[in-house]
Amino acid sequence: MKPKTVAIIGAGGRGTLFADIIGEYGHLGKVVAVAEPKDDYRQSMATKHGVKKDMCFNTWQEFVARPKLCDAVVVATMDREHVEPAVACLNKGYDMLLEKPMAPSLAECRAIEQAQRKSGGIVAVCHSLRYHKEFRKVRDLVASGAIGRLITVDMVEGVATWHQAHSFVRGNWGNEAKSAFMLLAKCCHDIDYLCFLTGQPARYVSSFGSLTYFRKENAPEGAADRCTDNCPCEPTCQYSAIKQYVNSDRETWPPKVVSYDHSYEAHLKAIQTGPYGRCVWKCDNDVVDHQVVNIQFDNDITATFTMTAFTMECARRVRIHGTEGEIWFVPGCITVRTFADKGVNEIRLAPETGGHGGGDQRVVREWLTALHTRDDSKIVANAQESLRSHTVVFAAEEARKRNTLISLDEFSAS
Ligand SMILES: NC(=O)c1ccc[n+]([C@@H]2O[C@H](COP(=O)([O-])OP(=O)(O)OC[C@H]3O[C@@H](n4cnc5c(N)ncnc54)[C@H](O)[C@@H]3O)[C@@H](O)[C@H]2O)c1
Repeated sequence: MKPKTVAIIGAGGRGTLFADIIGEYGHLGKVVAVAEPKDDYRQSMATKHGVKKDMCFNTWQEFVARPKLCDAVVVATMDREHVEPAVACLNKGYDMLLEKPMAPSLAECRAIEQAQRKSGGIVAVCHSLRYHKEFRKVRDLVASGAIGRLITVDMVEGVATWHQAHSFVRGNWGNEAKSAFMLLAKCCHDIDYLCFLTGQPARYVSSFGSLTYFRKENAPEGAADRCTDNCPCEPTCQYSAIKQYVNSDRETWPPKVVSYDHSYEAHLKAIQTGPYGRCVWKCDNDVVDHQVVNIQFDNDITATFTMTAFTMECARRVRIHGTEGEIWFVPGCITVRTFADKGVNEIRLAPETGGHGGGDQRVVREWLTALHTRDDSKIVANAQESLRSHTVVFAAEEARKRNTLISLDEFSAS
């Protein structure tokens, strides 16, 4: 079996991770091209994976301008830079692993799905929870009827204060116009999982939420614009960039998005001049720091979803209620209770290596396998599935912004 040849579009955090995972499955795939504007990122990937010089490109535009160069692409650019490379690559006949979210608007998501249908390319969208070992187990239990007929689901995503500050205040996903709204950028995983878990079309959604805390008026008195500007609050501030990014274990945290060079001097300079040194109450962030979504699915199934920044643990929990039992899931433990016999079964799966409970590995493996078999039935988040759950996300955000209830039928037809 000849490994499928893959180009990485966007050699940032996720692109690098996917290239490494493809390297782990060398019998199935090989990275042979890279498109990335940052010289150090591009060079580092080329060296690690033995990418030839004439297969290194500064941008996806340069890559796609050439005749078809390999079998498939991984699109791991930022949220607002998915639709153009995705559609261009599909039109050129590439198969594709596409990072979530598909795109920041429903029209663009539809454009990707249409391009996939036209080209017949094998597409997997990285809805990591569908591939996460424990989340997959929970879904399989529900599908097997372990708790009878599914009635209600209650899912909470704790983003954690430090993570909110890093990614959704100071970082790449803080400003909707530059990336995407919170429910799309962070929680499209959760809404997608609820669609996957229930296996039913969503009918109605409502949502509430706002940016309440990380706002200028909540800055402590006298706070400077940057932690390094002799801010009097810095020594006691939990969001101090000096504590988080300079006097930290710089090799493991923070990621290279703050500084590619992990020396003390480079990190200090990064927070003196870059976005990660800004006071968390004085940034250009506008995405919500808490939001709730209610969904009515077919079969009378109801679901609630809560996203909150205000927790210490960066983790999700799900409670699922059926006619004959319930499942309470927290990372590390799935508890199944059955009503008739008052049974309690605690399921603890062996931990998997790799991000998202082994999900990142699994999505790559299933996608590469489908490239060989040309059978995408094992891909649990193809373009059509992903478009369905993205539609619920866009509808929920519309409901939040308009403070109203949205019918999915009407929203999809609009
Ligand atoms: N599935 C998940 O759980 C998960 C987790 C984190 C991020 N993501 C998503 O993955 C995507 C990438 O996130 P990231 O953290 O790796 O971001 P990143 O900024 O680290 O990487 C994006 C890369 O794209 C490059 N790029 C910009 N313009 C380009 C062009 N014209 N051609 C080629 N490359 C270009 C940038 O230079 C950058 O290196 C985002 O859409 C994000 O939402 C998904």
